[in-house]
Amino acid sequence: MKMARSTTRFLCRKIVMMPFITFEGSEGCGKTTQVNRLAIHLEKIGFVPEVFREPGGTPIGEAIRHLLQHADENHAMTPEAELLLFEASRSQLVQEKIQPALKRGDWVICDRFFDSTSVYQGAARKLDPRLVERLNSFVAGNCVPDLTFLLDVDRATARSRLSARKIRDRMEEQPEDFYERVRNAYHELARRNTERVVLIDGSRQVDEIATEIWRIVRQRFAVDSEIRTPRSTR
Ligand SMILES: Nc1ncnc2c1ncn2[C@@H]1O[C@H](COP(=O)(O)OP(=O)(O)OP(=O)(O)O)[C@@H](O)[C@H]1O
Ligand SMILES: [Mg+2]
Repeated sequence: MKMARSTTRFLCRKIVMMPFITFEGSEGCGKTTQVNRLAIHLEKIGFVPEVFREPGGTPIGEAIRHLLQHADENHAMTPEAELLLFEASRSQLVQEKIQPALKRGDWVICDRFFDSTSVYQGAARKLDPRLVERLNSFVAGNCVPDLTFLLDVDRATARSRLSARKIRDRMEEQPEDFYERVRNAYHELARRNTERVVLIDGSRQVDEIATEIWRIVRQRFAVDSEIRTPRSTR
């Protein structure tokens, strides 16, 4: 059987590295819920995954997160400044946290990563997609996810899930056509990266989605067999 390129790459480095898994999708699609479910599942079988979020995950990144999402001044932010702030936060996260964790042999799960920038700043804000890709690789280097779950829900579902939130961030207050561009761009991303990006129907029950994600992780990374290395034995 022919192996996917990402799988081959993973197998080549699996002796020293655990997977780097990212979750993507529009606001309210269930990323954080599923990140937590996957982390809990891994912990139950003896792993201690490192879980990060974007923007954020480091002291500088969390300050940038506040500026991007909730600071009073952020309404005057240009799309270009927004792009560079996301990349600045990511640079800190990659160098301070993700690379060291992967080198230690930890699983890494990230709630959004560079695909969000391609989609939100490239497609939805309509900044030059080639510049966005260059900045993504400038910042992430070879820190490319082994697997990305794209949780897909329609706008009405996302809106009803988010309606209970008291504090809304700036990205939750965009015009409707912005979210349409986001969803279309995510679909396009999945079509162009069939080996890395797995499209998941996020409109189903939390448990059902978590079960599908776990099945894919187990299959892709042979969790129950040769790579199982609980932290306590290292
Ligand atoms: N499959 C699901 N079915 C119903 N409700 C869900 C489901 N998944 C998550 N939720 C609920 O929807 C809300 C948004 O979920 P969550 O915070 O996980 O989304 P998110 O993608 O992380 O959002 P954001 O992009 O804003 O961080 C939460 O109240 C959560 O409990
Ligand atoms: Mg979230």
